[in-house]
Amino acid sequence: MSSPLYKKALIIGATSGIGEALAIKLISHGSQVVLVGRRQERLDNLVKRLGSDKSSAMQFDILKLQDISTFASKVTTEHPDIDAIILNSGIQRSINFAKPETVDMSVVQEELTTNYTSIIHLTMAFLPFLQAKKTTTHLVYISATLGIIPTVLRTGGYNASKAALHHWILVFREQLRQQPDNRVKVVEVFPPAVQTELHDERHQPDLKDGGKIGMPLQEFIDQTYEELLKGDEQFGIGMAKATIDGWEKERVKLFHHQVPVVTNALKQFLNYISYHVGVGSKSAPGDPHYTMTTTSPQYLTGNPAALNEFIDRFDTFLFDCDGVLWSGDHTFPGTAETLELLRSRGKQVVFVTNNSTKSRADYKKKLDGLGIPSNVEEIFSSSYSASIYISRILKLPADKPKVFVIGETGIEQELRNENVPFIGGTDPTLRRDLVPEDYKLMANGDPSLLDPEVGVVLVGLDFHINYLKLALAFQYIRRGAVFLATNIDSTLPNQGSLFPGAGSMSAPLIMMSGKEPTALGKPSQAMMDAIEGKFQFDRNRTCMVGDRTNTDIRFGIEGKLGGTLAVLTGVSTKDDVLNGLLRPAAYVDKLSDLLGAKE
Ligand SMILES: NC(=O)c1ccc[n+]([C@@H]2O[C@H](COP(=O)([O-])OP(=O)(O)OC[C@H]3O[C@@H](n4cnc5c(N)ncnc54)[C@H](OP(=O)(O)O)[C@@H]3O)[C@@H](O)[C@H]2O)c1
Ligand SMILES: [Mg+2]
Repeated sequence: MSSPLYKKALIIGATSGIGEALAIKLISHGSQVVLVGRRQERLDNLVKRLGSDKSSAMQFDILKLQDISTFASKVTTEHPDIDAIILNSGIQRSINFAKPETVDMSVVQEELTTNYTSIIHLTMAFLPFLQAKKTTTHLVYISATLGIIPTVLRTGGYNASKAALHHWILVFREQLRQQPDNRVKVVEVFPPAVQTELHDERHQPDLKDGGKIGMPLQEFIDQTYEELLKGDEQFGIGMAKATIDGWEKERVKLFHHQVPVVTNALKQFLNYISYHVGVGSKSAPGDPHYTMTTTSPQYLTGNPAALNEFIDRFDTFLFDCDGVLWSGDHTFPGTAETLELLRSRGKQVVFVTNNSTKSRADYKKKLDGLGIPSNVEEIFSSSYSASIYISRILKLPADKPKVFVIGETGIEQELRNENVPFIGGTDPTLRRDLVPEDYKLMANGDPSLLDPEVGVVLVGLDFHINYLKLALAFQYIRRGAVFLATNIDSTLPNQGSLFPGAGSMSAPLIMMSGKEPTALGKPSQAMMDAIEGKFQFDRNRTCMVGDRTNTDIRFGIEGKLGGTLAVLTGVSTKDDVLNGLLRPAAYVDKLSDLLGAKE
């Protein structure tokens, strides 16, 4: 006989139904078993039947939560060779929640404790024992499809308890995976209705012959055993198979895609909270960032002394452009004069823009056209930031130096300036529909369609985004290309309305790949590092000026700049500035209010 599925399995709930039948099956295939349940006589009879050399029993009531850890130590001391724990115990009760006078809340509680709470207690009590083993161990949970689609109305409490169990298992399994060297395998079994005592007349007196509902027990056990041998993490049997393989598998896939996305977003949120609420080591009372963000922003408009004092604190001003210097095609009055005032006082001015469609040279033209004097060296765009990041910071393998671009000429020009080889972008041959041949070529990684030298996918705003470009980018990312985004602004303001932004180009790829790009625009600190690399400024004497608290002001705060200044001519309102979680050090109604410093 080949080696058994488990060396020794502890079966919780082995006195009848699925647990009992599984014990018999496991023994017949060479495993040993330890049987648990409340009914001592049943346990004794089963050990007699299975043989005391292969089986043993321990009476225990899993509702006694406080005794679970003692129970676990007893079991593991007596049976140190257990390598599988099958958590099978469960009860099902019929309850009509629309008739509260008939509902016995102690029954509701008992059902939830048996099917959910005690299962977690048991898992926690046995887990250290399993984790200490040098070989693979197994936790097998007997779940229920009623926890996924609660079609049986009479068992609402049961359905909910199994739903809780399923969601807990999904998370628990991921948490285990995140442990180094995890060898504990979590398997979840979804039975269909099976002929057991679960719904017999003893437990649900109104169900005449309820024990005859469903699949014959032996048939269920034979199929379950085959599936356990295959080793899948979750599977359904009989009618439950369709639910699990079709619908639920898709939902679990979504879960796996979204976990890294949400984890990342939460990480960013916690980073930012640590600045604002003073949690963690990044900030503490006395730290300038702490005071800066928890006190009320200083209102500078019309206060010449305060304006002068503020301006004097900085050598460098980083400017967001749209909403600060101009809106759309309209330059705010006094913009050029304000910049002139700062320059005349020896301040370095830097224009920081997330717009990736334009190169710096294009941007200079735009500034010229709007009557704002500038030179190319003062301009820092997200496409420039991305190019610098690729050429100077990323260490690409020698055989994968190329960038696949989703975006416009601005990105291409900046990559060219930095001598970074690229494909895609404005290439007109990519503005077409997919043909059947493309699928085959892509699936096979054919070099005529997928350039083997691509090591980076860089995504910016692309006015000609299409399925072909997304499919190619996805294939490159799947083959290990670094995923970058010029910026992740979801929308782009224009003509007083909003349009899809660069972040909406990378969003489908996040969905497809489950990966988050490294973003190089505000508020990503990769951009701040790149700006600092170029201008060598003293962060303490640098101020970020912007109209959006969640990008511009956050960019300055997270970059630990000496100050942040909000203007109220763009996206964020006075209420955001004064009461939002991200507050600037100071604010003015409009940029040209800085001219008041002259008075
Ligand atoms: N049968 C189905 O149609 C079906 C469908 C989907 C899922 N399931 C699940 O399959 C699992 C097994 O159920 P089954 O159908 O085999 O029902 P069953 O014949 O009634 O078996 C239930 C087992 O759980 C044990 N148990 C219940 N409460 C316990 C407690 N407080 N302490 C210790 N053991 C306890 C029982 O032992 P004692 O009474 O001796 O304590 C018995 O061994 C359950 O989790 C159930 O939800 C069953
Ligand atoms: Mg802006």
